[in-house]
Amino acid sequence: MRFESKLPDVGTTIFTVMSRRAIDEGALNVGQGFPDYAIDPRLSRALVQAVAEGHNQYAPMEGVVLLRERIAGKLEASYAIKVDPMTEVTITCGATEGLFDAIQAVIGPGDEALIFDPAYDAYEPAVRLAGGRCVRVPLTPPAFAFDWDRVRQQLSERTRLVIVNSPQNPSCTVASRADLDALAALVRDRPISILADEVYESVLFDGRAHASVLAHPELRERSFAVFSFGKALHATGWRTGYCVAPPALTRELRKVHQFNTFSIVAPLQHAIARYLHDCPDAWSGLATFFQAKRDLLTGLLRGSGFEPLTPAGTYFLLVDYGSLSRSSDIDFADRLIREAKVATIPLSPFYAAPPSMTLLRLCLAKRDETLRTAAERLREFGTRVAGTRV
Ligand SMILES: Cc1ncc(COP(=O)(O)O)c(C=O)c1O
Repeated sequence: MRFESKLPDVGTTIFTVMSRRAIDEGALNVGQGFPDYAIDPRLSRALVQAVAEGHNQYAPMEGVVLLRERIAGKLEASYAIKVDPMTEVTITCGATEGLFDAIQAVIGPGDEALIFDPAYDAYEPAVRLAGGRCVRVPLTPPAFAFDWDRVRQQLSERTRLVIVNSPQNPSCTVASRADLDALAALVRDRPISILADEVYESVLFDGRAHASVLAHPELRERSFAVFSFGKALHATGWRTGYCVAPPALTRELRKVHQFNTFSIVAPLQHAIARYLHDCPDAWSGLATFFQAKRDLLTGLLRGSGFEPLTPAGTYFLLVDYGSLSRSSDIDFADRLIREAKVATIPLSPFYAAPPSMTLLRLCLAKRDETLRTAAERLREFGTRVAGTRV
């Protein structure tokens, strides 16, 4: 039988590729976005307790009610908005499932979704599996600012979805309230939904406040907003996230969700609900926590040949190796794994048409000790190759 792939050009993600290479080469992995430190012991205990209490059967399709209530409480505390936990909140398998479900709910054959490059890699395959195509608007380094004129030019009769990620992985830029106003003006009177990937909502630096689509009355009416407990609780392996959307959109999302994952691991939901009850401000310290790591790594790397760009948010840091080499970022990242024993993530795979640039992404969600070792290795490598352009 001849089998036709639906995604013939999709390979293994750059994260998996680099993490595998890190293991093969015995390199320190500061590429992929996952913490290398322990989760809060109160969260571990809450999980043990949830299992012991017997929360081991199917959770409700929409999510454990108590958890949805906690989420509504959290959104009210963060953004002064009221969300109905019963009709507007759905627990998903990580933010990834929320993104996939929302895309399947909105996009049909021939439809277009507008995304911003460099784009997180989960968007496009989901759009294509739904029969649609992505129209990409680039954010240009080093500022990576949203260019709303270009967005206007790219909108068409077929546009059904705009996917905005803020704080943005991997550019580390953030959308301001003025950006959201510009977006709202562009989609007004058009049949376009918004998918807001807000998984880094609590990680904005230097006193910035997150502009959530949920706190923008006009956008809120047409938006799916997706969040991740993996990011908020330093527990990416728990694969628990949620999607918030108005009732009509939530109904459509749940039609996909119920036949995709049906419902999410019950004891994890109970554990998170309990944890949020005991620590209702669990995420309030995230920005300070990661800003200290950003400042540490930035300080250690200055003058090393890996020049840090100052991130506005997310738990990543971009570094520019242009003074050391003009090789492609993929080749250079591979060389770093082999020679410096440090795994990073090249930026070009996040673009459909990468601009010329020499940027790598490092993850800040690591122990200080890991960041120090990575910086030392990069500095040694930088000193060794300085002056010899390769
Ligand atoms: C921008 C962005 N969206 C979504 C996700 C996926 O989140 P989750 O691990 O909760 O599925 C990630 C994970 O790295 C991300 O960086």
